[in-house]
Amino acid sequence: MKYVVLNKDDIAKDIADRIVSLIKTKEKPVLGLATGSTPLPLYEELIKRYKEGEVSFKNVKTFNLDEYIGLDELNDQSYRYFMNHNLFSHIDIDLNNTYVPNGLIKDEDPLYYDKMIKEAGGIDIQVLGIGTDGHIAFNEPGASFDSLTHIEALKESTIKDNSRFFASIDDVPRYAITMGLKSIMNAREIVLIATGKAKAKVISELKKGIISNDLPASILNKHNNVTIYVDEEANSL
Ligand code: F6R
Repeated sequence: MKYVVLNKDDIAKDIADRIVSLIKTKEKPVLGLATGSTPLPLYEELIKRYKEGEVSFKNVKTFNLDEYIGLDELNDQSYRYFMNHNLFSHIDIDLNNTYVPNGLIKDEDPLYYDKMIKEAGGIDIQVLGIGTDGHIAFNEPGASFDSLTHIEALKESTIKDNSRFFASIDDVPRYAITMGLKSIMNAREIVLIATGKAKAKVISELKKGIISNDLPASILNKHNNVTIYVDEEANSL
């Protein structure tokens, strides 16, 4: 696992460079994307590069990590809404090539999502954030390392962290559909971003290199192409 310490803007530029170079060299590039506050500077940078004519997303497919159960795309707290508003509607990507797990899933097996990723050729670059409890996507502490896409109950700490986006904590959905740790590990390259003081503790735990279900992100130690991007604050412990 490689650690890179940069400021927020340079993290966004560095990862955008990787993504643009992938798009320019691969016929059918596939990106794995995350929501949350952390990847926003990256999405702004990608929009900027599209607007400056440096890159087109016409041939790109994207798969998002997760979605709240019970929220549809018109709900402004859904991750589909987040992606449409913070990235997809500002670039020339075909919305039909953008996939977010179905938060309104009923009888379907969540594994349909891994099958779709496979059919698309697998994820070339997976972008991740990290929760203060070490979750990646919505794989909470204790999650199985062998998991593919599934429905997961959110831990109290995650509900509390995410309540900042909702009118009240009671409005935060209690379940999410999420790519599993194995789905994430199947990506050919992974970039995890952690910025701000709130992530310092979890990053100091991750740096110990101990692989444990208590820290879901620690499974990344077993992947051969992972870069952890941290800013000074996240790297401060
Ligand atoms: C979002 C996701 C989550 C976030 C994590 C950090 O799709 O999968 O794991 O990456 O909760 O969220 P922020 O970036 O808001 O601190």
